[in-house]
Amino acid sequence: MKFTLAVAALAAAVLTPTLAQAQFAKADDAVEYRQSALFLMGNHFGRIGAVVKGDAPFNKDDVAKNAELVATLSKLPWPAFDGGQTNGKSKAKPEVFSDKAKFQQAAEKMETAVAKLNTVAKGGDLASIKTAFGEAAQTCKSCHDNFRAK
Ligand code: HEC
Repeated sequence: MKFTLAVAALAAAVLTPTLAQAQFAKADDAVEYRQSALFLMGNHFGRIGAVVKGDAPFNKDDVAKNAELVATLSKLPWPAFDGGQTNGKSKAKPEVFSDKAKFQQAAEKMETAVAKLNTVAKGGDLASIKTAFGEAAQTCKSCHDNFRAK
């Protein structure tokens, strides 16, 4: 009996982090999680955008840090769409949940583009950063056009 309990406790301890990432108890949690992740990603992406547009001075360490954060954050929102959970505050169009394959493809395109931006940013060449930023921004726009309500 003691042994069984110990095994159950261990299994729970091992499984909990995975479950917490993969599913959300409430629709509100799923929506808040993905919106928060997207908000942070958008914020750090926007800081690079300001440099690219010439609205902020070019500091290559800052750009590299922001690009690294964007690349990391770009992986976070998607599991929070997986369960199909949504609420009145979500801007996700129904197509996010009815056309999962296309949505996932759009997410992967963006992850690839921001990973490239991250690599390029480490190099510190502004012209290359501008190009990679533009390509990444296009992947945001194309998904928003298809999957995000205005
Ligand atoms: C695969 C599709 C997809 C891609 C790619 C994508 N987004 Fe989004 N984005 C969404 C959806 C869907 C929402 C609405 C989520 C919701 O409200 O449930 C959203 C919402 C947002 C929000 C609003 C978050 C909030 O505060 O509620 C920001 C900011 C954002 N995205 C930025 C970006 C940026 C920047 C990129 C590119 C680097 C990007 N997104 C790429 C689908 C995408």
